[in-house]
Amino acid sequence: MKNISKTVSKKPWVAWVLFFATMVVVFLLGLFTYTIIENRTAGQFAFVTTTDIDPLDPRAEAWGRFFPRQFNTYAQMADTTFRSKYLGSQRRDLLDENPNMVILFAGFGFSRDYNLARGHYYSVLDVQETLRTGAPMNPQDGPMPATCWTCKSPDVPRLMAEMGVAEYYSKTLAEVGHEIHNPINCASCHEAEDMSLKIALPTLAETFTRMGRDINNVSHQEMRSLTCAQCHVEYYFGENNYLIFPWDEGMRAEDIALYFDQREFADWIHPLSRAPMLKAQHPDYEIFTTGIHYQRGVSCADCHMPYTTQGGMKFTDHKIQSPLNNISASCQTCHRQSEAELIRNVYDRQDMVHDLKNKLESVLVSSHLEAEFAWNNGATENQMREALHLIRHAQWHWDYAAASHGGAFHAPLEMVRTLGNGLDMAHEARRKITAVLVDLGFTGEIPLPDVSTKEKAQVYIGIDLEQLQAAKDRFLDEIIPQWLQASLERQERWERQRRDPDHTGSYLQ
Ligand code: HEC
Ligand code: HEC
Ligand code: HEC
Ligand code: HEC
Repeated sequence: MKNISKTVSKKPWVAWVLFFATMVVVFLLGLFTYTIIENRTAGQFAFVTTTDIDPLDPRAEAWGRFFPRQFNTYAQMADTTFRSKYLGSQRRDLLDENPNMVILFAGFGFSRDYNLARGHYYSVLDVQETLRTGAPMNPQDGPMPATCWTCKSPDVPRLMAEMGVAEYYSKTLAEVGHEIHNPINCASCHEAEDMSLKIALPTLAETFTRMGRDINNVSHQEMRSLTCAQCHVEYYFGENNYLIFPWDEGMRAEDIALYFDQREFADWIHPLSRAPMLKAQHPDYEIFTTGIHYQRGVSCADCHMPYTTQGGMKFTDHKIQSPLNNISASCQTCHRQSEAELIRNVYDRQDMVHDLKNKLESVLVSSHLEAEFAWNNGATENQMREALHLIRHAQWHWDYAAASHGGAFHAPLEMVRTLGNGLDMAHEARRKITAVLVDLGFTGEIPLPDVSTKEKAQVYIGIDLEQLQAAKDRFLDEIIPQWLQASLERQERWERQRRDPDHTGSYLQ
């Protein structure tokens, strides 16, 4: 300080230089702070900008105009190259990989065709293409109700708003086929007004109400899982194909089995064993809630929709996929371990669960075939009752675990518990069948057919794949272009109305 005052008293102009230099620095700092504040506000505005999106608009592009980052990552779901040891986005023929399932699902659509899910981007196409939905050449044709579309498209909430929920479910799949065009997207999870998370489909809210809970009164972190639980859950079609989540007795395999037993509900009668069967859907949420990540407050979105940054902007990655394709963002935000170690942790758990799943599967296949043999040798309903009840429950336990593709990682212990109980029941079923055969005077080795490949198994249960595929191809060639045309015309109509400056109401009407 002394030096400066000496210098200034000798050379007064230095004081002016210092003064102006300080002014320039202060001005630049001010400018810098202003830019930061402005950028931050712009950042917030990226989420709360006033948009003119109609809340029921089912078109991803209409929302994506305002949110290009989320839209672009969403669109990356078109890429289906990733494959992990058991899962990933490639379309794989699971019946070819595992012919046991042809026998387990005999008499039910899944024995015709069962592919690994490719992802949200393909949800509508996959329903149109699978042999399970048949080849409906007319609105009243085909085995499936409109309820099938419910978790596939934001066109469904739009239609429900137009025609009423129960009315929607009462239609056939083909009757509304020309109305279902857009795969799962923005409107499935977001309010248009402020982009907060929303429950767009009625079933989860109805189920919460039955359980004495209010879906509008849950934490933000819970919503980051509950948006997924709109669809990634066990469900069945009740009266008039009304969609129901069977959680009234609880969410574990045995709780849901009890629910179905109380209602004497069966999805189908198995043509070989004649057991009244249950088909599990995909109880991802139910099983996830029994795992350590759920119990520590981690949500589905934390792993499947991690935060990412682009140009300094932090946002949610909307490419929903196997987290193993993005370990650094999906896991390493919380875990310090290397990528290789985390993958090993996942595969170890999946290997153990799959080992038990495969064991249960082959005991179940034998039990169906042996029950068939017992019937063919004159067994009576009375003799078979207990064995069939055990087969129903053993397969339900298998399917509950198997149909939740992520469960082996989400909650390995619950999966192993469920499969272990199933294995116990399946062995018990075989013992009962052997006892029936002994009663009938048969004591030799039960001769079993060769059903070791998809083709052999399908021929054995009487599926004519070529004929099914030919009918499907005709449907895809003749009907799908009509549905597509109707959808494109409808969407063009909205777009015209939207651009019309005199138009004030919803452009979906
Ligand atoms: C409107 C219903 C719906 C909602 C909501 C939904 N999903 Fe899905 N999800 C599906 C359907 C249907 C498929 C199968 C689509 C296909 O492959 O044809 C699927 C597939 C997936 C897949 C498999 C993709 C792959 O690469 O194999 C993952 C992972 C997934 N969903 C995670 C989630 C997560 C996480 C959420 C919540 C943030 C969520 N989903 C919300 C219906 C939904
Ligand atoms: C399966 C459900 C789901 C779908 C489909 C979906 N989102 Fe999101 N979105 C989320 C979740 C979960 C978050 C994180 C929200 C939070 O934690 O507040 C999010 C966050 C956002 C945000 C807030 C900013 C951010 O990035 O975190 C915007 C904007 C957004 N999504 C736009 C879109 C757009 C546009 C689409 C369609 C192209 C879309 N979303 C489709 C679930 C979904
Ligand atoms: C938001 C934080 C968070 C994220 C993201 C996360 N985890 Fe975890 N993980 C946890 C917590 C918390 C635990 C429980 C450990 C504890 O409390 O000591 C846990 C436990 C585990 C365990 C031990 C579970 C067991 O079965 O004993 C494994 C393995 C694991 N995580 C792997 C992963 C992988 C792989 C990913 C990415 C796909 C991941 N985690 C993502 C927080 C997270
Ligand atoms: C701690 C991280 C984590 C959380 C939380 C989590 N998952 Fe997963 N999920 C995974 C991993 C890891 C896999 C296995 C992926 C693989 O093997 O490629 C997986 C697999 C899946 C799959 C099968 C994906 C495929 O490629 O076919 C679906 C569907 C799924 N999860 C949905 C959900 C839903 C719904 C929730 C919430 C109820 C959830 N996940 C919560 C990490 C997580």
